[in-house]
Amino acid sequence: MESTTPTGAPAVDPAHDASSDAASAEFDAVIAADGRIEPRDAMPDAYRKTLVRQMSQHANSEIIGMQPEGNWITRAPSLMRKAILMAKVQDEAGHGLYLYSAAETLGTSRAEMTDALLAGTARYSSIFNYPTPTWADMGAIGWLVDGAAIVNQVPLCRCSYGPYARAMVRICKEESFHQRQGFEILLTLSRGTAAQHEMAQDAVNRWYAPSLMMFGPPDADSSHSAQSMAWKIKRFSNDELRQRFVDMLVPQAEALGLTLPDEGLRWNEQRGHYDYGELDWAEFKAVLRGEGQCNAQRLTHRRRAHEDGAWVRAAASAYAAKQAAKDDARQEVSAA
Ligand SMILES: [Fe+2]
Ligand SMILES: [Fe+2]
Repeated sequence: MESTTPTGAPAVDPAHDASSDAASAEFDAVIAADGRIEPRDAMPDAYRKTLVRQMSQHANSEIIGMQPEGNWITRAPSLMRKAILMAKVQDEAGHGLYLYSAAETLGTSRAEMTDALLAGTARYSSIFNYPTPTWADMGAIGWLVDGAAIVNQVPLCRCSYGPYARAMVRICKEESFHQRQGFEILLTLSRGTAAQHEMAQDAVNRWYAPSLMMFGPPDADSSHSAQSMAWKIKRFSNDELRQRFVDMLVPQAEALGLTLPDEGLRWNEQRGHYDYGELDWAEFKAVLRGEGQCNAQRLTHRRRAHEDGAWVRAAASAYAAKQAAKDDARQEVSAA
């Protein structure tokens, strides 16, 4: 009988860790041919671990990322804005769900991933530890944070691990909608009163640098990058993706009538790209260490939400058990 994790995902079969030469050669051949590794295929243990780490971090980010915007649902300036923002935040919950489910195919249960997040031992994107004091932050998050997410995630649709790549296809479509709604909020504010324009500019001033840091440390300091690229989990380096993002932002900022707060930003004819200023990596590391403005608040809120949701999980499990018992009884009747 095949064993499964508590959530139904196939458990890891130790014979499938690609430790044998034949299994390892098969894995290498699939990667070399740009094929997809599927849950039951043999894979090196380190590949599995890297994916669980990356996918669970990604899922955690989607879930924690609901908080800075959820904060504005009741205060959005019109019924239409509320409905759009609510749909967007629900999309992020869905992204978390697809990604936890995709990660479970690697043999780690969703409960384990959630426990690690609540215990503070699993990471999520640092960007969500920044506060959202004004409505314009909803625009800046959509335009810059979802914008950076798209640049990061479009290449993941070609990631070598099948379930991750497939989850990213739908996620990227939804992220494009998120980016446009953010752009549209900023455009409306930018063309509004002087005070609204100033509010939009202030939000862009606060979110620009953190969004550039979402691509991770510079290539020279990125510990996981080279191996992830060799395994075709990652297709472009942190700096390549960051450059792509900056090149995309400049004309969009012009269209918005807003300024990117970066004195080092200028067109480099020779490189055919925009140069940009130094980023404050000390700040990035401090937020990562838990010293950001909202780190404690985000985790406290998440823990409380998890506790408050205990009855929903209990009810869903009881319902599933009842349905399974009914199915069993039906099968027995039809077999008799
Ligand atoms: Fe998302
Ligand atoms: Fe999004």
